[in-house]
Amino acid sequence: MMLKVNPILPRFGAEVSGVDITRPLDEATRREIVATMDRWGVCVYRNTGLDNESHIAFSRIFGHLERAPNMRGGPPKFGHRELFDAGNLDADGQIIRDPVVLQHKMGDRLWHTDSSFMPLRSAYSLLLAYEVPPEGGMTWFADTRSAYDDLPAAMKARIEPLEAEHSLWWSRMLAGSPLSEEEIDARSSARHPLVHVHAGSGRKALYVAAHTRDIVGMDRVEGRALIRELIEWATQPQYIFPVKWQPGDLVIWDNLSTMHRGGGYDETRYRRDMRRTTVREGEPPAEPDDPFADLLNNTLNRPAPAATA
Ligand code: OGA
Ligand code: MN
Repeated sequence: MMLKVNPILPRFGAEVSGVDITRPLDEATRREIVATMDRWGVCVYRNTGLDNESHIAFSRIFGHLERAPNMRGGPPKFGHRELFDAGNLDADGQIIRDPVVLQHKMGDRLWHTDSSFMPLRSAYSLLLAYEVPPEGGMTWFADTRSAYDDLPAAMKARIEPLEAEHSLWWSRMLAGSPLSEEEIDARSSARHPLVHVHAGSGRKALYVAAHTRDIVGMDRVEGRALIRELIEWATQPQYIFPVKWQPGDLVIWDNLSTMHRGGGYDETRYRRDMRRTTVREGEPPAEPDDPFADLLNNTLNRPAPAATA
């Protein structure tokens, strides 16, 4: 199988065609698809014909899938725990008007990497469009490998040994949710190197975005200035592009070599139905693997609380 690959930027992003991803794939094709991701960081597959089940099945060629948050504990919205909701429709298919939910979703408008607030990082995200607004609602991507490559040598040396603290609640606060520093301190977070070697390509990448709250061991003000500087650096025009969606389009991004953000649209007027699977890095963790339940119960990094009557 030879995939057809059309680069979007010279070093980053590609439109891929020439393969039917609704069907089971042979090993050679699977490897080619993964290698194309390793090379380009973001791959756009147009008009795929995928549905919930084939989307999940195709996603599994990349590894084991994260279960999406299920806060109310009822049946999963799309019939599968593996599907995250990136749209603006409620369980009855009506446009969501709950201000708390809308506010929470605003965090996706900031440059971010999915689930960097988890100790086990998300590798790939696969977002499939079902319904798209007639205007707006694009998704933007940024190349954190080329951004790293182009940094001045002094900055590379400065950030190489650093680690950062990532918190979901920090990005929500940045996007306007009413949370205090103390409340964020009391909730789960995760620590990751600021620069890492992207396993599939051997290239170094920045690992910093909206969930990145502090640099470990650095003064808060100084650390946050550095975080902002790196995000601004990596989202300069030469590192970014938008994807304009049509129903049926699938975009795969590698969270370990990219950042992304949702573009704005009139979410009180237009419907948007977008569903995402997420592949966690490494080997499958011991069951049960339900990271958002642990995160939202605030037990992610902590010893289990003593049982109370
Ligand atoms: C996501 C996400 C942005 C968008 O699904 O992880 O950030 O444009 N989506 O829907
Ligand atoms: Mn996201």
